[in-house]
Amino acid sequence: MNKKITVIAGDGIGLEVTGITQNILEIIGERFGHSFEFTPALIGHAAIEATGEPCPQETIDTCRASDAVLLGAVGMPMYDNNPNLKVRPEQGLLKIRKELGLFSNIRPIKLFDELLYTSSIKPEILQGSDIIFFRELTGGIYFGTPRERNEDGTEAIDTLRYSKMEVERIARQAFESAMTRRKKLCSVDKANVLESSRLWRETVQELSSEYPEVEVTHMFIDNAAMQLIRDPKQFDVIVTGNMFGDILTDEASQIAGSMGMLPSASVGSEIGLYEPIHGSAPDIAGKGIANPIASVLSGALLLDISFGLKEESDAIISAVAQFLKDGYRTLDIATDTTPEDKRMNTAQTGEKLAELLASVAV
Ligand code: IPM
Ligand code: MN
Repeated sequence: MNKKITVIAGDGIGLEVTGITQNILEIIGERFGHSFEFTPALIGHAAIEATGEPCPQETIDTCRASDAVLLGAVGMPMYDNNPNLKVRPEQGLLKIRKELGLFSNIRPIKLFDELLYTSSIKPEILQGSDIIFFRELTGGIYFGTPRERNEDGTEAIDTLRYSKMEVERIARQAFESAMTRRKKLCSVDKANVLESSRLWRETVQELSSEYPEVEVTHMFIDNAAMQLIRDPKQFDVIVTGNMFGDILTDEASQIAGSMGMLPSASVGSEIGLYEPIHGSAPDIAGKGIANPIASVLSGALLLDISFGLKEESDAIISAVAQFLKDGYRTLDIATDTTPEDKRMNTAQTGEKLAELLASVAV
């Protein structure tokens, strides 16, 4: 198979982890007889520095000319505390999601057995958790207009807008996914307060008649945030809007032990985009200690979803599982009992994973 992959490393630890994943994909290519051609592109602060724009047209064009996109992370602290800056790295990420029509952000929350004791949640609560989130990605309050500050700067407005079509297409994906899993779908909204949530709920309810086998529940976002750590095993598939999904999946990363473990896939058109759910992590950026596993697992999702290479994808997941079984840990998932020689930095993790890939059964 010959495929083109655009690699957008972005900012902070995005640069460090994406290189590891590209290397892993290259190894997979050699091992399984595929040719992957990688083309770099700019986004975020890196793109602003080089071109003045957080997502230049060239980046969109490069993505469109490729078969899939691997993205690192976007963001820089210098923008966070300066609300007056009009051009911001995050705008680049929103733009690329919108331009590529990636309305569905899939975030699987799966706990590797070896990390049962790493989470801040009790092992008996966690064990057996397996959730998949469908976060709507190109609508809601992230994109609704008007969004502005009034003239004297004392008031600001964002708009939470959803159309029936936008709710239906993400809900359909969630229903389809539920059909291949435990057939349980929980739709998260704030229908007791928000009009857009009442439309959301009504649309999911209507669609449920097409999927009679799927048991549908509706949960308010505040309750869902609580239930997720009280009893994560009650969930199978969760579908929710853009901002609720952003917040809940950061919370849910604790179910998988660390933010550094969670990959995501953004789909909706011919070209899928794959990125870790973590951000640019400025506190550890440049130190070479970031956990590249979320990015590497995003690479596995890319092979599976965009290229249909299930066996190749599973090989990567097995290598990660073996890395953990062998006791290796990056900083974020290490505990007091992790011996010194099992503590890995980013590059060492990449090397170990490459080594393990050569040995996992295919
Ligand atoms: C995410 C991130 C982004 C989002 C930011 C960086 C714009 O937090 O992918 O979860 O809010 O969608
Ligand atoms: Mn987020």
